[in-house]
Amino acid sequence: MEEIIKKIKTEVETFVIENANHVEEFRLKFISKKGLVTELFEQLKHLTKEEKQKVGKILNELKQFAEAKFTEAQTNVAASHKKNSQAIDFTLPPVPDKTGNLHPLTLTRNRIIEIFERLGFSVADGPEIEDDWHNFSALNFPPNHPAREMQDTFFIEKNPEILLRTHTSNVQVRLMNQQKPPIRAIMPGRVYRNEAISARAHCFFHQVEGLYVDKNVGFADLKQTLYHFAKEMYGHDTKIRFRPSYFPFTEPSAEIDISCLICKGKGCNVCKHTGWVEIAGSGMVHPNVLRNCGIDPEEYTGFAFGMGIERVTMLRYQVNDLRLYSENDIRFLKQFKTVVS
Ligand code: DAH
Repeated sequence: MEEIIKKIKTEVETFVIENANHVEEFRLKFISKKGLVTELFEQLKHLTKEEKQKVGKILNELKQFAEAKFTEAQTNVAASHKKNSQAIDFTLPPVPDKTGNLHPLTLTRNRIIEIFERLGFSVADGPEIEDDWHNFSALNFPPNHPAREMQDTFFIEKNPEILLRTHTSNVQVRLMNQQKPPIRAIMPGRVYRNEAISARAHCFFHQVEGLYVDKNVGFADLKQTLYHFAKEMYGHDTKIRFRPSYFPFTEPSAEIDISCLICKGKGCNVCKHTGWVEIAGSGMVHPNVLRNCGIDPEEYTGFAFGMGIERVTMLRYQVNDLRLYSENDIRFLKQFKTVVS
């Protein structure tokens, strides 16, 4: 039996432990309930009393030796695992950066700018906090026009002369005050209205205003410009129609509809079964507006239009709820990752 113990001791000594699997193999082979060392203790009972004492002693030494090796190996493996997991492996491929993407409204705004820039329009900007003159009075709003009333406009309580602009048309006024015709500009920006938030309305939204003032600008120029825009934006099959309308700052005025892109004119919920959806307001700049801005209406004429970027984007990407634009839900926003504006 002493021979066997010696043999097993050599095996314990030479057993190579390099990882957690080896630790477990070692335990099973030698010190578990069915391990070789444990089995040897079983065999002690076949020996005489004196032999038992002698063999028992060396067997105990073997057991302690095996257990010590096991504990040490366990500690070493755990330590080296920790070290490895902290080390940087420069050979691994890099973890890709999570890059964001442009907001759908920005994509659409950029596309609108691109289309009009090619027609020679420049981009102008103006303040969102505005006074009554630039937002209303200069644009020929009569003093009692309903748009001035509290339910539509956010006024500043301490000074009702100051308000949050309700449209980007204020930039028209500022531009005409600053520049001499010819003026050809588009004016994207944020506007505010005191409306309850729903799928179709929000207390703020975005518009792009367009203005062209020069000698001999006529309604045909307006029509052709917006016709071109609709085709560039929505494809060459898009149909466009002008509906007579009223705005204080244009005369004549027209609302512009395009054929519904969702049902292709057959009639659906989006176009309220008419086959047409409104995308912009427009008209010939009212002579009073030109005069208010120091431009002689006998010498110059102009056209103007304004459209909602949210609406244009809804039709472009089939977005059915305005609130999605400002909720910052990543599941919505990341869908525009591969969209090139
Ligand atoms: N300002 C109008 C609105 O907010 C849109 C508009 C209509 C702008 C006609 C214009 C225009 O410049 O000529 O509903």
